Amino acid sequence: MAIAYQTVAQLSELPEGGNLFVEVDDQPVALFRVEGQVFAIDDVCTHDGGPLADGILKGHEIECDRHGARFDIRTGSVLCMPAVESVRAHHVKVEGESIMVAINDSGDLPKEAPKAPLAAASSHTAPVTSSAAAPETAIPVAELNFDQETIVNALKTVIDPELNVNIVDLGLIYTVQTRGSEVDVEMTLTTPACPAGPEILRNSVKAVEKVEGVTKANVKLVMNPPWSPARMTDDARDILGIF
Ligand code: FES
Repeated sequence: MAIAYQTVAQLSELPEGGNLFVEVDDQPVALFRVEGQVFAIDDVCTHDGGPLADGILKGHEIECDRHGARFDIRTGSVLCMPAVESVRAHHVKVEGESIMVAINDSGDLPKEAPKAPLAAASSHTAPVTSSAAAPETAIPVAELNFDQETIVNALKTVIDPELNVNIVDLGLIYTVQTRGSEVDVEMTLTTPACPAGPEILRNSVKAVEKVEGVTKANVKLVMNPPWSPARMTDDARDILGIF
């Protein structure tokens, strides 16, 4: 079936390195222009609905300015906590000065980023049939019993004893990476002097190592960027009565 493109903006509205919010079929879409190519992804962060067109663009990554999740604008792949689900990458082509987008209803993700930059004013259709590039693994992914989401769910069982909220909803987890059967986690604390810190770190290691297939959890404490209440999910805010 032919892809139904519609003109959503002009190139002059989207300078190199820029972000632009548009609506396509009543759906919010974020446009980006990097190295002469235009990319389109959902404008809704899968963590807590933040507008990605308002985020910070670094190369081909967009960082949600609400709690710092990052996505690859070429594929929609989620790259960084606290989001764990990818967004859709949409079809894009440029004809003359017109940026044309067609919504990717299949929800499939491009397998890999386009390799060759396209000249401005040429046509580009984002590939739509693949999944995000997998992190490097020492054993075939098919043999692993866990993925990033499984690890995040395991970390949700770790409760900050002072606030009584799990550490994921508190926004303490910065990154989760799998390397074969090992898992690397970067996390922070609400304050450097948090008295519950050692207990939280110990429990995080235990929770991850309980996941079937994980042989080792490397949990690293980082204090930069510092934690702030803005990193909490709405669920955590509800529990803590912060509005
Ligand atoms: S809403 Fe985007 S990181 Fe939380």
